[in-house]
Amino acid sequence: MTQDFPLPQHSRIVETDEDTLAMAAQAIRDGKLVAFPTETVYGLGADAASDRAVASIFDAKDRPQFNPLIVHFADAGQAALEVVFDDRARKLTQAFWPGSLTLVLPRRKDSSISLVASAGLDTLAVRVPDNIIARALIETSGRPIAAPSANRSGTLSPTAALHVELSLRDKVDIILDGGSCAVGIESTIVDLSGETPTLLRPGAIPMEDIAALLGPIALPGNGSAVKAPGMMSRHYAPSIPIRINITPENRQRGEAYLTFGPDAPKRAALNLSRKGDLKEAAGNLFAMLRALDMPGIRGIAVQPIPDVGLGRAINDRLERAALSLEKRALPKSIPDVNA
Ligand code: TXA
Ligand code: MG
Repeated sequence: MTQDFPLPQHSRIVETDEDTLAMAAQAIRDGKLVAFPTETVYGLGADAASDRAVASIFDAKDRPQFNPLIVHFADAGQAALEVVFDDRARKLTQAFWPGSLTLVLPRRKDSSISLVASAGLDTLAVRVPDNIIARALIETSGRPIAAPSANRSGTLSPTAALHVELSLRDKVDIILDGGSCAVGIESTIVDLSGETPTLLRPGAIPMEDIAALLGPIALPGNGSAVKAPGMMSRHYAPSIPIRINITPENRQRGEAYLTFGPDAPKRAALNLSRKGDLKEAAGNLFAMLRALDMPGIRGIAVQPIPDVGLGRAINDRLERAALSLEKRALPKSIPDVNA
């Protein structure tokens, strides 16, 4: 896919074709970092079996080592070599894989996945992405690929190759261009390692769809900080302040107004979905926050978004982006981890 404006010098972005895919697969086997599109957001990938390669993901992102990574597979059979599937996991993967559902499952004792990827936990987060380039890269390299979102820790997730370039620059070896991500918000993470299925991160697959198959899903309680380190902190943040749940009368001067739905004031910076479609809004979220994060804009005010279906994932990202600097200063015992 070609860019319609000049790329930065020494760009790492390549159009994806048979040759660049083969080159990227070789780079994975050589322990290098390859950014690639998934249907949710771009991932920063490395050979999941190599301690060194996985450690370089943490370095490139400035990510705390104890925040584990999702490992991506070409199919469920490949994932089953590394984690233990039970009936619940089989039900969910049959319904949603390939796709935007990540499962946290017990690691197999003989798993070849680096313990650095799972931060030493006895569980592993696994998913099969619904993107042809992502799966081709995994298949061609012959390796499961550990990949967090391809951005510096704590910043907005990338939904286009250029976002990756601007965030990581020369810290990534190759960026496979796959155009804009079809879904645009991260996968839903469900922990099945315990008795009760627990939602660790609302995401692209609505919780309601998962509950329809499994029955009630627990929301992470206070004790979940260790289980889902990325849940705690300021995250997905542009560089200017964000205020959320702001009705039209409560906007402030100098703030850009990010709206939702057909009744939104016409004089607003951007509308996440004029039709009021939560799927469209989720797809636009990161790109619109990014577009409004610019000099001359003092802050971003966001109109209330319905807290159902994909709205939960949107509100989760907005709430974390909106955490103030004071709230961000977490106690020393709970470091500020961002994915
Ligand atoms: O859509 C996505 O999930 C994207 C694409 C690239 O696949 N990936 C992504 O990864 O969002 P990342 O690293 O930005 O977020 C992964 C989250 C983190 O909050 C991490 O704490 C959690 O998954 N996680 C990973 N392994 C875990 C485990 N074993 N137990 C609990 N949480 C885990
Ligand atoms: Mg992330």
